[in-house]
Amino acid sequence: MRAYEITAGSHGIEGIRPTTRPDPTPGPHDILVRMRATSLNYRDLMIAAGQYMGGVATQNTIALSDGAGEVTAVGSQVTRFAAGDRVMGTFFRDWVSGTIPTGPRAALGAQPTDGVLSEWSTFHERDAVKVPDTLSFEAAATLPCAAVTAWHALMSVGQLQAGQTVLALGTGGVSIFALQIARMAGARVIITSSSDSKLERARALGASDTINYRSTPDWEQEVLKRTQGRGADIVVEVGGAGTLGKSLQAVAPGGKVMIIGVLTGRVGDANPYAILSKYASLHGIFVGSRTMFEDLNKALEINRITPVVDRVFSFDETHEALKYMQRGDHFGKVVIRL
Ligand SMILES: NC(=O)c1ccc[n+]([C@@H]2O[C@H](COP(=O)([O-])OP(=O)(O)OC[C@H]3O[C@@H](n4cnc5c(N)ncnc54)[C@H](OP(=O)(O)O)[C@@H]3O)[C@@H](O)[C@H]2O)c1
Repeated sequence: MRAYEITAGSHGIEGIRPTTRPDPTPGPHDILVRMRATSLNYRDLMIAAGQYMGGVATQNTIALSDGAGEVTAVGSQVTRFAAGDRVMGTFFRDWVSGTIPTGPRAALGAQPTDGVLSEWSTFHERDAVKVPDTLSFEAAATLPCAAVTAWHALMSVGQLQAGQTVLALGTGGVSIFALQIARMAGARVIITSSSDSKLERARALGASDTINYRSTPDWEQEVLKRTQGRGADIVVEVGGAGTLGKSLQAVAPGGKVMIIGVLTGRVGDANPYAILSKYASLHGIFVGSRTMFEDLNKALEINRITPVVDRVFSFDETHEALKYMQRGDHFGKVVIRL
C-alpha cells in the first residue's frame, strides 16, 4: 500500500516522505480500514521537526493521528464493528474511559505507533468509533485529536454551562472546535486571531467578540473590558509560554485555564499570583478518551454541527498540505483525501 512516513532523523516537513508498505492484515481483535480522509494537526509539524515529546524520530513511522475510513474486514473475535461501517481511529490506543492511563502511551502517528496517512490501517476494535451519519469522511477525519481535545476541555473537565464565557486563542483546529462546541452549549465566545478576515469568519460561526492579538497586544485587557472586568470562565490555552501569563489575567474568578498547547513555546515566566488571587485553576488536557469521543459524536450529530474544513488536498499533494498548515493560513482544519 501507499503511505507517507516520518523518516528517522526528520527535522522538518521534508522528512515526511512517500513510501510503500505491505498491505496490513487484521489480527483477531482488529478491524481493517480503507482510509478515505486524514487531517493535519500542529502536532504533526512538531513530530516532523523532531520537536515533539519523543524528540527526533529514530524509526520510520506512518504520519498523522487523525483519519476516517471504511471497514473492509474484521478479525474473528471482533464484535463492535462489521464490514461497511464508517469509522475513525482514536488518538490514543487503549484509553476507553476515566482518567488517562499511566505508563507508556501509544498515540497514532508518533513512534513507535504508525499513524493513518496510508491507504489501509488496522485498529484494535477497542480503539475506533463510528462516524456520525451526518458527517462525510473529510469532516470526520478532523475529529480524533482537535475536536476531542476541545470537548474534553470544555465539556468533560470544564463542565461548561449556558451563559458562561469561553476565550479561545487563535483560529486553528482546536480553537475553532472550541468555538463550535461552546456555541452549541449556549456559551458566549471571545476569540483572538492575527487576521481580521479570520475573525470575520469566527463571527459568522457565532463568536460574539473578536480581538486581533497583533493589533491589540494587550488582548487580555480587552477581554476584561468586554466582560465588565470579570474575564472568561474557561480559557482554551493553546499558546503556551508566550500567552499563559495573559490567559491568567483574562480568566474569571473561579475560572479554569485549560493547558493545551505550546504554539509560542514551552518556557516562560507566568506569574502564579493571578491564579491564587482569583481562585482560578489550571487543568492539563491531553486529547481524550474514547468515551469523550463518543459523547462528542452524539452532540455533533444531534446538533447537526459540521467541522470547519478550510481546504482539502489530495494524497499526492501531502507536502502542499503540510506547507499550507505550516504557513498558518488555515482557519479550522486542513484535510488530505485518500
Ligand atoms: N494537549 C492536547 O491534547 C492537544 C491537542 C491538540 C492540539 N494541541 C496543541 O494545541 C496547539 C494548537 O493546535 P492546533 O492543531 O489547533 O493548531 P493549528 O490548527 O495549527 O492552529 C494554529 C493557530 O494558532 C494561532 N496562534 C499562533 N500563535 C498564536 C498566539 N501567539 N496567540 C494566539 N493564537 C496563536 C494562529 O491563529 P491565527 O491564524 O488566527 O492567528 C494559528 O493559525 C498546538 O500547540 C498543539 O500542539 C494540544
